[in-house]
Amino acid sequence: MANATGFFSPTVPSLKKKISPSLDVYRYGFCSPEGISRRVLRASTVEGSERLDSGVSPSESRIPRLVSKGCKLVGCGSAVPTLQVSNDDLAKIVDTSDEWISVRTGIRNRRVITGKDSLTTLAVEAAKNALQMAEVDPDDLDLVLLCTSTPDDLFGSAPQIQKALGCKRNPLAYDITAACSGFVLGLISAACYIRGGGFNNVLVIGADALSRHVDWTDRGTCILFGDAAGAVVVQACNSEEDGLFGFDLHSDGDGQRHLNARFKENDADHDLGSNGSVLGFPPRRSSYSCIQMNGKEVFRFAVRCVPQSIESALKKAGLTGSSIDWLLLHQANQRIIDAVASRLEIPPERVISNLVNYGNTSASSIPLALDEAVRSGKVQSGHTIAAAGFGAGLTWGSAIVRWG
Ligand code: ACO
Repeated sequence: MANATGFFSPTVPSLKKKISPSLDVYRYGFCSPEGISRRVLRASTVEGSERLDSGVSPSESRIPRLVSKGCKLVGCGSAVPTLQVSNDDLAKIVDTSDEWISVRTGIRNRRVITGKDSLTTLAVEAAKNALQMAEVDPDDLDLVLLCTSTPDDLFGSAPQIQKALGCKRNPLAYDITAACSGFVLGLISAACYIRGGGFNNVLVIGADALSRHVDWTDRGTCILFGDAAGAVVVQACNSEEDGLFGFDLHSDGDGQRHLNARFKENDADHDLGSNGSVLGFPPRRSSYSCIQMNGKEVFRFAVRCVPQSIESALKKAGLTGSSIDWLLLHQANQRIIDAVASRLEIPPERVISNLVNYGNTSASSIPLALDEAVRSGKVQSGHTIAAAGFGAGLTWGSAIVRWG
């Protein structure tokens, strides 16, 4: 396994500000009395977006918000499987071509889990890299959120990550299932735990192995996906330093018909199957179907809903598209990224994209691309990022955050 950039730079900037483990009494309540009394109106000099074009920096132009405590991103990491599968490799198993895939999607390669790699090992490697950059000890973690739709264990894999990291205080660890929106939901969840729950260090991991749920004979879907993991450490800070400027989250169950991997009873299995009783008990052994997708509908949904969501999050933050440093979308299709950027009038040089190398890695695509951009020096401390996830559920959402 390697991290997203294929190397680990010893010169990665540390954004650490040492925060001691939280007091347990805070972890069980919603908000400490001390936190309430210290509640402050966030300092801000400008309301609305009118003055944004006059060169006011994003940190000065945010609208006032009530937060008892702030949160910020202090470390990131990623990991990808070693096996690389190119478009030409795929053309050997389905009727497709490098040209068709790259023109329609922008994807040329993806990584696929094999052998001893598992979702958990990838997630642990990404988490270790993020903790190292943040200079946060696993013992100081208060919460581990694993955003995944493909856990190694149906009941959730986050506790296995907590165990592998050697977190001696046994912090709460659980999975969040929201497909390609999972990471954005995890990020906002982490912020809520910190702002209102007294948590100090939250590890948010986006990890997925959709290769396990793809029909490798279906050229309409198997060309899109890859496996990976990415992670960030979200840390408590003063409300004045808060790095989550605005967010916007949605679901629409009606759209599930366009994108799903549904539970199904196995008709062929009669060992435990229905014994002929009218009750149909015991149930048959079951499994999930491979990913079913109406690509055109999902494409339309993404280019319509994602810009609206980002605009809404920007408005809540008191910012505009022109005042953010980076647009970082879920890496599903370069044509979707280009269409959203164009709607928001964000030029290509301010758009982060790495799907050419990894394909659609679901919940891991945003932290994977972020990690690559941070380690290459593209994204720097203080930069403002508009991040948006979208996918199965349907779910979608955006977060306007500052790096560092
Ligand atoms: N190679 C060659 N031809 C293909 C391939 C392929 N891999 N796949 C489909 N085709 C053919 C089709 O059979 C069709 O042929 P026909 O005209 O003879 O019927 C033709 O190409 C066009 O197919 P479409 O499906 O209409 O192609 P489209 O331009 O819509 O591109 C794609 C398909 C790339 C999947 C696109 O619709 C897309 O990216 N959709 C969004 C997917 C997405 O973003 N998902 C994100 C969420 S994932 C999650 O949440 C888990």
